[in-house]
Amino acid sequence: MRLTDKVALVTGASSGIGAAVVRRFHEEGALVVAAARSERSLQEVVRPLGERALAVPCDVRSIRHLEQLVRCGSERFGPLDIVVACAGILSVVPVEQVDEAVFDNIVDTNFKGAYFTARLAVPSMRDGGAILFVSSLSAHMGLPGNSVYGASKAALRAAARAISADLRSRGIRANVVTPGPVDTPLFDKREASGDVVAATKKDIAERTPVRRLATAEEIASAAVFLCSEDASYIVGEELVVDGGWRNVYEWR
Ligand SMILES: NC(=O)c1ccc[n+]([C@@H]2O[C@H](COP(=O)([O-])OP(=O)(O)OC[C@H]3O[C@@H](n4cnc5c(N)ncnc54)[C@H](OP(=O)(O)O)[C@@H]3O)[C@@H](O)[C@H]2O)c1
Repeated sequence: MRLTDKVALVTGASSGIGAAVVRRFHEEGALVVAAARSERSLQEVVRPLGERALAVPCDVRSIRHLEQLVRCGSERFGPLDIVVACAGILSVVPVEQVDEAVFDNIVDTNFKGAYFTARLAVPSMRDGGAILFVSSLSAHMGLPGNSVYGASKAALRAAARAISADLRSRGIRANVVTPGPVDTPLFDKREASGDVVAATKKDIAERTPVRRLATAEEIASAAVFLCSEDASYIVGEELVVDGGWRNVYEWR
């Protein structure tokens, strides 16, 4: 029980990593405010957790929605201790095909949405709290079709460091978790056929030293650590959870 009675706000909570974070935070004793657009999927995650979790439908691209989210969460459970900005979309678009609409949708969700989730939560946070952004290996590697996605995720690393500097007098730590490939619906939502998605996952698994994609629960474990007192001396840092993808090379 590493988060006993902590109040945590989690976006992207209706699916994949965000849903796993909500469940793990609940198991660790937190009160959880869970947000995403799809109310039905959100309820499926939150309902089994009872009174200690609250579902708030929210589009992170809307400042008005985010203000409402923070207000609902803190009215129900009190000041926030933890904010996890996990909502994100993956669009794989080669640079020649990126137009303003593609750019704005990815950046508005992944960077602006995550940034303002934190920004608008800060006044309602308790001193000593924790902010966590969810980045991606695409921020480190030049993956095809990932120029906007990768840039939107790289921006979060810079933001976490500067936010930690701005909030140092309040003891609020901002960090980043950077997952490698994780087996979540994110892949299936790509603009690709089921066969292409399956082939991509197989290829990724073969290239990864641990020979499989991560589970959402493995990323949630890192989130629990970074948002708990166990990480009290970790500030403006990035934890890469990628099964060795980036650092471990195998001669074949
Ligand atoms: N899966 C991976 O391999 C991987 C790797 C690195 C990083 N990540 C990052 O991890 C995060 C979670 O991804 P995932 O793999 O768990 O994908 P996922 O299963 O598709 O979940 C994405 C979540 O974000 C929410 N979301 C998307 N757009 C939103 C918006 N405008 N407003 C509010 N919520 C929104 C979705 O809910 P609604 O659709 O209901 O709004 C959903 O809850 C993302 O930021 C992603 O970039 C994933």
